[in-house]
Amino acid sequence: MHLVAERSKSKSIFTILEKDHKKTFQNLDLFYEVLRKLRFEGKQNLGKNLKEIRGLVAYFKRELNGHMKEEEKTLFPFLQSYIPRLEPMICLLLSEHQDFRNSLREMRLSLLEFNKAGRDKTELIHKIEEQGTYLVCLLRSHMQVETQSLYRVADKELHPSEKKRLIDQMERNAS
Ligand SMILES: [Fe+2]
Ligand SMILES: [Fe+2]
Repeated sequence: MHLVAERSKSKSIFTILEKDHKKTFQNLDLFYEVLRKLRFEGKQNLGKNLKEIRGLVAYFKRELNGHMKEEEKTLFPFLQSYIPRLEPMICLLLSEHQDFRNSLREMRLSLLEFNKAGRDKTELIHKIEEQGTYLVCLLRSHMQVETQSLYRVADKELHPSEKKRLIDQMERNAS
C-alpha cells in the first residue's frame, strides 16, 4: 500500500508523456537522415530509402495517433478547465495535431504514387523530401512546446489532488 502510494506520488505528467516524445525525437532524426539520403542518392538506393521512409511513416501514424488522442481526450480538456490561461496554447497545439494528420496523409498518398507506372520519379522524390521535411519541423517544434511548457506547467500548477485525478484518467484511458 505504502509502495503504491509512493509510486503514484513520484509520477508526473512530464514523465508519462515525455516517453513518447523521446522515442519520436529519435525517430525524427532517423527520418531526417533518410530524407537527406533520398535527396542526395536520388534513384540510387531508391528502394532501400523508400522502405525506411515507409517504416518510419507507419511508426508516426501508429504511435503518434495514440499519443495525440491521449492528449486530446484527457490532458487538453483537463488543463483547459483547470488552467484557463493555457487555452490559446492548447488551441494552437490542437491545430498542429490536425496539420500533422493531414500532412501525414498527403505523404502516404505520395508514397503510393511510386507504385504507379509512368510517374516521374525525380518529381516524386522532390515531393517526398519536401513533405517529409515539413513533418520533421512541425513535429519538432510541436513537441518542444509541449515538453518545455505545457507538461511542466501542468506538473507545477495543478493541485496534487487534481494532478492525481488527471493521471488516473490518463491511465484509465490508456488501458
Ligand atoms: Fe501534441
Ligand atoms: Fe505530445
